[in-house]
Amino acid sequence: MADQSEKKSMDEIMALCKRRGFIFQASEIYGGINGFWDYGPLGAQLKKNLKDAWWQDTVLTPPPGPDGRPLQIVGLDSCIIQNPRVWVASGHVGGFNDPMIDCRESKRRYRADHLFSIALADGANTRAYAFVDGDDEGKARALKLLGKYAKRTLSESDVTVTPLAKATPDQLAITVGPDAKEPGTLTEPRAFNLMFKTYVGATASEDDAAYLRPETAQGIFVNFKNVIDTTRVKLPFGIAQMGKAFRNEVTPRNFTFRSREFEQMEIEFFCAPGKTAEWYRFWRDLRLAWWRATGLRSDNLMLREHERDELAHYAKDGAGTSDVEYRFPFTHPGFGELEGIADRSDFDLKQHWSHSKVKLEYFDADTQERYVPHVIEPSAGADRGVLALLCEAYTKDPSRPSKVFMKFTPRMSPLKAAVFPLVAKEGMPETAEKLHQELKPRFGMVEFDVKQTIGKRYARMDEAGCPYCFTIDGDTAKDQSVTVRERDTCAQERIGLDRVTEYLAERLKS
Ligand code: GAP
Repeated sequence: MADQSEKKSMDEIMALCKRRGFIFQASEIYGGINGFWDYGPLGAQLKKNLKDAWWQDTVLTPPPGPDGRPLQIVGLDSCIIQNPRVWVASGHVGGFNDPMIDCRESKRRYRADHLFSIALADGANTRAYAFVDGDDEGKARALKLLGKYAKRTLSESDVTVTPLAKATPDQLAITVGPDAKEPGTLTEPRAFNLMFKTYVGATASEDDAAYLRPETAQGIFVNFKNVIDTTRVKLPFGIAQMGKAFRNEVTPRNFTFRSREFEQMEIEFFCAPGKTAEWYRFWRDLRLAWWRATGLRSDNLMLREHERDELAHYAKDGAGTSDVEYRFPFTHPGFGELEGIADRSDFDLKQHWSHSKVKLEYFDADTQERYVPHVIEPSAGADRGVLALLCEAYTKDPSRPSKVFMKFTPRMSPLKAAVFPLVAKEGMPETAEKLHQELKPRFGMVEFDVKQTIGKRYARMDEAGCPYCFTIDGDTAKDQSVTVRERDTCAQERIGLDRVTEYLAERLKS
């Protein structure tokens, strides 16, 4: 068995995803489209299992709150396209217009098209120094520092100057930021007006411009009044929504990790202003535990509390922000964000009140007070979750024909079982198909496969992550028994045909 802590190869995982039908490049037959991915038969079911688990555990059967009382969470399904004024109020229009590069060391932010770097022209590009266009002093300083690094006095003819707006990760790794001391602290450029624009109606004039939502959250805030007017919820309560979000990312990368179309699973949890710290801690811990329960190993998961200067504008004075992060192969040994849990204060409701002129306050019947609730927001990415599940499940095993198997938990596993007739004759396909039809309504996705040798069929199912394979053979007709083969151990045993449903139900319930 493989050492689980070793770095897995993202290329191998991507190849398996394509080979077995988890994830395909969108529009592949036309050469693809950067930042967009389609889910194949297994991937679509895997994603559905993750989203269903989130809905079940969040909306339908949430655990009790910190006070031991039942949590109140209701669901919502709002439109992708909203009145464009929603995005003015939320700060998405206007605020975020240019690709920016951040420096993790100096915490300064630069317009990407304003940053250039100086490196040695002779090809010895082991170090580069960045400066801001038009800052002559900064440019002279960069030249001096490069000379010091190269241990010679340099003139302009000894160096090349390159714009950083399209810098590769390798270039950035050797570049020292304009206000930094160490190389590799500049982030890749990120577009701050990430929104996809479209037009509503036939005329396509600027008056009809609208946007594809960049987050599902605002659909919740603009429905806050509808929900409290039409349901019996009382503070504290949450509104949950999952659905597509779109961001025109400048550098989509790392497979589905940063896509231009993705799905979010978001909760806006409304509470009284003085209660945010308690609810923030509750959601932070609950969400980490939830991700663990999907099968992500605890040492591949971490909770990272944001530094104050990392906080979003709406979270500056709140109880805090933390990310649930997963150690992906491409971030190894570091971690990448799966979900953010943020105290958004009363920012969004106040913004929408001010822009729409519709009162978005809450009347607390217990205290007879009116106030704008504060919000704790656990905001997760379904695609990043699926990617983490795929990376986690990918397990090398040189001893088996497939050399690799996908070790999903029973709940997440897209396929729950497979049924094989050993050969396509002697009544075996008919018995196998009957069993297949019996299992499907109860367990969901169950494979029927009659092609190739049994070893090849097991190998295919190992790569698909199918936990149990049942084989109908020559003895089945005689003694009504089948062979069951378990994915993780490859162990095989004989059980009665009439016990298959019970056997599977017992093992899939965890
Ligand atoms: N409403 C808050 C919000 O949208 P965010 O941190 O920008 O916060 C929340 O996004 C989650 O959405 C992230 O933790 C991530 O899982 C997912 N996400 C964000 N941008 C993404 C992208 N370009 N591709 C895939 N997932 C993304």
